[in-house]
Amino acid sequence: MSTVIGIAGSLREASFNAALLRAAAELAPPDLKIEIASITGIPLYDGDLEKGEGLPQAVSELKERIARSDGLLLVSPEYNGSLPGVLKNAIDWLSRPAKDISRVFGNKPAGLLGATPGRGGTRLSQTAWLPVFRALGVRPWFGKALYLADASRAFDDEGKLIDDAVRSLLSEYLSAFAAYVRA
Ligand code: FNR
Repeated sequence: MSTVIGIAGSLREASFNAALLRAAAELAPPDLKIEIASITGIPLYDGDLEKGEGLPQAVSELKERIARSDGLLLVSPEYNGSLPGVLKNAIDWLSRPAKDISRVFGNKPAGLLGATPGRGGTRLSQTAWLPVFRALGVRPWFGKALYLADASRAFDDEGKLIDDAVRSLLSEYLSAFAAYVRA
């Protein structure tokens, strides 16, 4: 059994990306456990805060969960044709101090998903994450991609993924990602 830490890059209660992550956790194959982690409560990165008080507890705890895990799954919105600051901010904290990057992220299999009510399916955001993945030294998985456009049609009012075609694509993504994490 592999364990992957899943992080959605939105703080919104009704977030499509958080809903997509929940669907991923539900549809993951039996040999892949997706543990959903939250970035709520992580403050804005501030070097003075880091120097004076060290990492916020929520950051330290999440760092250690990632370090212990077999992989990482980011589910990211797209803002202004790029990645969302709130998730980048969390990753920036998690990359501190830089000497810990290889222990926490180094060579870790990393998947990426995204949902938007717009038409582009978060393609620009997913592309914008690539240099960040490089900086972290993760091992990004490019075997399949899921760009969920028109997300408001794919979920019901409770945030359940009701589009069967998307459920199939997500299941296929997760089965192949699980094999990559295992390898
Ligand atoms: C957006 N949105 C958006 N969508 C998109 O497909 N491409 C984009 O460039 C942008 N830009 C953008 C900027 C800002 C500041 C906001 C607040 C929103 C719409 C975005 O996809 C939508 O709000 C999603 O619902 C956000 O994801 P969650 O919160 O549903 O997970």
